[in-house]
Amino acid sequence: MTLKKGFLWGGAVAANQCEGAWNVDGKGMSTADCMVASHHGVQREFTDGIVEGKYYPNHEGIDFYHHYKEDIALFAEMGFKCFRLSIAWSRIFPNGDDETPNEKGLEFYDHVFDELLKYGIEPVVTISHYETPYALVKNYGTWRNRKMIDFYLRFCETIFKRYKDKVKYWMTFNEINVNGFHPEMTMGLRIKEGENRNQVIKQASHYEFVASAKAVKMGHEINPEFKIGMMMMYPTFYGETCKPEDQLCAMEQVDKQYYFSDVQCRGYYSNKAKASWKKEGVVLDITDEDVKALKEGTVDYIAFSYYNSNVASSRDDVECTDGNMVNAVKNPYLKASDWGWQIDPIGLRIALNNLYDRYQKPVFIVENGLGAKDIVKEDGSIDDDYRIDYLKAHIQAMKEAVEEDGVDLMGYTPWGPIDLVSCGTGEMQKRYGFIYVDRDDLGRGTLKRSKKKSFEWYKKVIASNGEEL
Ligand code: BG6
Repeated sequence: MTLKKGFLWGGAVAANQCEGAWNVDGKGMSTADCMVASHHGVQREFTDGIVEGKYYPNHEGIDFYHHYKEDIALFAEMGFKCFRLSIAWSRIFPNGDDETPNEKGLEFYDHVFDELLKYGIEPVVTISHYETPYALVKNYGTWRNRKMIDFYLRFCETIFKRYKDKVKYWMTFNEINVNGFHPEMTMGLRIKEGENRNQVIKQASHYEFVASAKAVKMGHEINPEFKIGMMMMYPTFYGETCKPEDQLCAMEQVDKQYYFSDVQCRGYYSNKAKASWKKEGVVLDITDEDVKALKEGTVDYIAFSYYNSNVASSRDDVECTDGNMVNAVKNPYLKASDWGWQIDPIGLRIALNNLYDRYQKPVFIVENGLGAKDIVKEDGSIDDDYRIDYLKAHIQAMKEAVEEDGVDLMGYTPWGPIDLVSCGTGEMQKRYGFIYVDRDDLGRGTLKRSKKKSFEWYKKVIASNGEEL
C-alpha cells in the first residue's frame, strides 16, 4: 500500500464560505461579510460595511451553521478520516478586541467538533481563513498594527484551551503568501494611494509571522500533542522556455512564495528575503523579541493548496488565463477548467517534492479540486465525471510523489467536499463538491443536499486508502 495507515483523507472548507449565520448568536461582522458577489474575471468588491442593495453571498453561505449535523453525516458516509474547517474569529471575538469571548460562538464549534468526533472524524482547524473581524480593520488598521499580535493570540489561547481535547491539527493562517497578491482579502488590508505596497504588505506579514510563531509555542505548551502547521498556496511555476531569463523568472516567482514559508518553517528571514527588502525600499519594524519568537515558533508541518500550475516568462506579450489567486500565463500543454485554471497533476507532484525537499517537514495537501458547473438531470442525478477525472489524476500524482520520490505526506483534503460560495467570485455555480447544494448565484434555492456521482467514487477511494481510483 502506497499511503500510510492513518492517512488523513477528508475535505476542506472555510467558515465564511459555508456557515452563513453571519450575524447570528452574537457573531460580529468580518471582512468576508463585506465581500460583494461577482463573476468570472471580475474581482470581488469590498464595501465599507454593508451597503444596501448589494448582494453578499457569504452572509448565508450554504447555512452549514444550521445543517452541520446533516453535512457531517454525509462526510462520515464517505468515510472521512478528517475534516478541515476554520473558526470564524468574529464569532468568538465579535470586535476582535473584546476582553471575553462570545460563549455562543464557542458552543457552536463544540457541537461541530463533537459531531465529527462521534464519527471518528479528526477536526483540522484553520485558525484564520480570510476573515478578520471588521472592527479590527476600522479601529486598528488591521495587520498594519502590532497590537493585532495580541488580539490574535487571545483568540488562539481561547480556542486552544477550549478545544484542547477535541482538536489536534491546527494551521495558523490560510494561504499566508496570498498576502502578497490580495492583502484586502487575506487581512482586510487596503493599500492607500502612494504607499509602497511591498512595505505595507511585508510589515503586516511580519506581524502575522510573529503572531503565528507565538501561537505555535503557546499551542505546544497547552497541549504538547498539538500539530500546528503553516499553510500556503503553492503554484508550481515553469519557465516558458529553456532560455535562462525565463528560468530566472520562474525562480523569482517561486521565491516570492518561499519568502513566507521560509520564515515559518526555518524561523528566520533568509538572505534572499533581506535582499528583497533592500531592492524594494522596505524597512521593517522587527524587535529582538520578534527574532526570538520566530526561532521558537517554527511549524510542525506544511499545509498547502494546489489547483493549477503557472508559467513564468521574460516576455511581456504573453497570453494569459486565470488561476487560483494569481493570473497565469497560458501553457499550451495543458487544458483548463471552465474558469481558466490550468489542470496539471504533475505540477502537484513537483510541488510536493519542492516543499518536502526544502524543509524536510511533513506536508499536507489541504486544498485541491475542480470548480465546475454541474448539471442536475431530471431524475436529480449529477454525473460529474470531469471532477472524478481531475481528482483521480491528482491523487495518482500524489501517490507517485510518496512512492517514487519518498515524500512524507500526511493527508489529502480536497476543497469544498460540499458545494460552497466561491472565494474568488462569490458564485455558487462554481462547484467543487461531492455533495450538491441547491442554491444559485442569486441566493435562490432550497439548500437541499444531494449526492453527486463523485460521492460514491470518493468513498471507494478512501475505503481502499487510495488503491482504487
Ligand atoms: C483557495 C482558498 O485559495 O482557493 C479558498 O483558500 C478558495 O478559500 C479556493 O475557495 C478556491 O477558490 P475559488 O475562488 O474557486 O473559491
